[in-house]
Amino acid sequence: MTIKIAPSILSADFAHLGAQVAAVEAGGAEYLHIDVMDGHFVPNITIGPLVVAALRERSQMVFDTHLMIENPDRYIPDFIRAGSDLITVHQEACAHLHRTLSLIKEKGARAGVALNPATPWQSLACVLDMVDLVLVMSVNPGFGGQKFINSALTKIEDLARCRQERGLAFEIQVDGGVNRTTAPQVVQAGADVLVAGSALFGAPAPQAEVACLRAAALT
Ligand code: DX5
Ligand code: ZN
Repeated sequence: MTIKIAPSILSADFAHLGAQVAAVEAGGAEYLHIDVMDGHFVPNITIGPLVVAALRERSQMVFDTHLMIENPDRYIPDFIRAGSDLITVHQEACAHLHRTLSLIKEKGARAGVALNPATPWQSLACVLDMVDLVLVMSVNPGFGGQKFINSALTKIEDLARCRQERGLAFEIQVDGGVNRTTAPQVVQAGADVLVAGSALFGAPAPQAEVACLRAAALT
């Protein structure tokens, strides 16, 4: 079995962002998870397309941009122009989810959709055949370093079963509270991509920790 590791830069040292990104890339991380927050959809404000463009010049990783913002259609083209390979929007922030996912693809990126802990996976039934990734939030979005919410495991299992039954190929990503202890459970449940912020950037050596987390996840 193979899994992908997606370090979340939310927990990186922003004064040394370039070096921190280079470290996790050298450690073998496949995706770079970029958390965009607007102070409306979630109670925090983070980064915009300028930061994505600056990092794009320094990294070959898949840029995985997690938009925790209202009205994402307005900013999707900017984030793709800045270098995002994959754009994930929140189901809860999209009144016209099919249109938003179509826009992401039309502009040339892979399309993902995220579910808050309280949102049932069945709400995606009509769009699962057009998404490249489903992001299961295992914390309420807004901050790094929160505790893993266990009900995410059942949601991952249900999505993995539905994917198999319908013969679909979207990736299942998990975000929030993923560490050496919770990673094996999420992989067992059927997740393919593990987002980790504090577990990687809070470790003494983030570069080495990428492989440690991967090894722990596969035990
Ligand atoms: C939370 C963000 C996460 C966050 C995860 O709203 O979407 O990506 O950085 O942080 P940890 O891994 O510390 O829970
Ligand atoms: Zn995230």
